[in-house]
Amino acid sequence: MSLKEIITVPDPLLRKISDPIERVDADLHKLLDDMLETMYDAPGIGLAAIQVAVPRRVLVMDITRDDEDKKPLFLINPEIVSSSSEMRLHDEGCLSIPEHFAEIERPANVLVRYIDRDGKQREQEFDDLLATVVQHEIDHLDGKQFIDYISKLKRDRIVRKLTKDRKRAETLVL
Ligand code: NI
Repeated sequence: MSLKEIITVPDPLLRKISDPIERVDADLHKLLDDMLETMYDAPGIGLAAIQVAVPRRVLVMDITRDDEDKKPLFLINPEIVSSSSEMRLHDEGCLSIPEHFAEIERPANVLVRYIDRDGKQREQEFDDLLATVVQHEIDHLDGKQFIDYISKLKRDRIVRKLTKDRKRAETLVL
């Protein structure tokens, strides 16, 4: 397994729509393992492949705490089949939008169809925090980010700040 670099806003790749996976094979297993390790290392509770610059419809999640046994979830070609009308508000962050958070409202429960690590088709209901995480990650596969749900004014401010941070980092490298 190896750690991958997580790309951040305003990297234009994050706006790309990811392509479906056609085959669950050793290469895909390696990508999933690398993504999981990268997510745990960050640390984060969800990561989409596009965040490590791989435009494929794959994501990993694990919301267990440090003192609990790990429960990684691997979702390949995930699709939301249905969403509850009941909504849930959660303070969201993103490994690709470091140090910025916003309260986002999303359906409280979602039914998701996906292919698991063994190549088996599954349907699973996610609620509470996992519902938020899975919707946030599926958004990434469609080039969307949580800042798309906040006002343009706030979004522009975050993007400007991250652009400035990156320029400063590049200057330091030179
Ligand atoms: Ni994210």
